[in-house]
Amino acid sequence: MRKPLIVGNWKMNTTISEGVELVKSVIDSGVDQLSVDFGFAPPFISIYEIKKYLNDSHILAGQNMYFEDSGAYTGEISADMLLGAGCNYVILGHSERRHIFGETDEVINKKVLHALKKGLNVILCVGELLEEREAGCEVETVLRQVGLGLKSVEKGLINNVVIAYEPVWAIGTGKTASKDDAEKMHMEIRKYIAKLYDDDVAQRIRIMYGGSVKPENIKELMSSPEIDGALVGGASLKAESFIKILKYYE
Ligand code: G3P
Repeated sequence: MRKPLIVGNWKMNTTISEGVELVKSVIDSGVDQLSVDFGFAPPFISIYEIKKYLNDSHILAGQNMYFEDSGAYTGEISADMLLGAGCNYVILGHSERRHIFGETDEVINKKVLHALKKGLNVILCVGELLEEREAGCEVETVLRQVGLGLKSVEKGLINNVVIAYEPVWAIGTGKTASKDDAEKMHMEIRKYIAKLYDDDVAQRIRIMYGGSVKPENIKELMSSPEIDGALVGGASLKAESFIKILKYYE
C-alpha cells in the first residue's frame, strides 16, 4: 500500500516571515498525527528558516535546481545548497519551468539524474497542455515526459522518485481534472513505469495529482486508489485550506 503524500507548492509567494507563519499554523493544527506524508515547497530564500519548524518526517522541497554543483550560473541553486538548507525533496519539470522558462525534457532529465545522485528525492512533474488534450495526444505527451524525464534513472534510485501528473489546463485555473480523467492518466503512467522498470516498481511508485486541488475536491480525487496524493498550489497558501486538505486523511 502506497502512503499518500501532500505537498504545498508555494511558487513565487510568501516572504520569509509569511512562510514561517504559514508553516507554524499548519504544524500547530496537529496534522502530524495524520497518516499522510506532507510538506512544503517554499521559495528558496525561506527554506533554511522554515526547516527550523519541521522535522525529518516532513517533506521540504526546493521548487527547482540546476544540474551542476557550482559555477557561473547566475540565479541558479545547486543540490548541495538545497540539502544544506534542509531539503529532502526537489520539484523538477514543473509546467511553469517548461512553458514559461523553456526547460526541455533533456534538461529536466539531467536535473533528475543529478538530484538523485546527490541524495535528493525527486517530484517529477508531467502534464499536457489543453491543446494537446483537445488533439487527443495527452497520453502520448505525458508518457514522453515520463520516459525522457526518467531516462537512465537506475532501478535502485527510482524509489526516490514521485511522479506528479499536473494537467497544465488545470493549474491555477480552478478547472480540476475529473477523478476519472486523472485516474486514467495515472493508470497509463503506472503501466508505462512497469514497462520501463517492472511491476514491483510500478506498484510502489507514488503518483500525485496537481491542478486546482481544493478542500472541496480532495475527497473525490483521493477516492481513486490510483491517485497517491496531491501537489497543491493556491490552496496551500492558506493554512486553513491546506489543513482541510490534509485532514482528508484523518
Ligand atoms: O505544483 C502544483 C501546482 O502547479 C498546482 O497549482 O494552484 O492549481 O493548485 P494550483
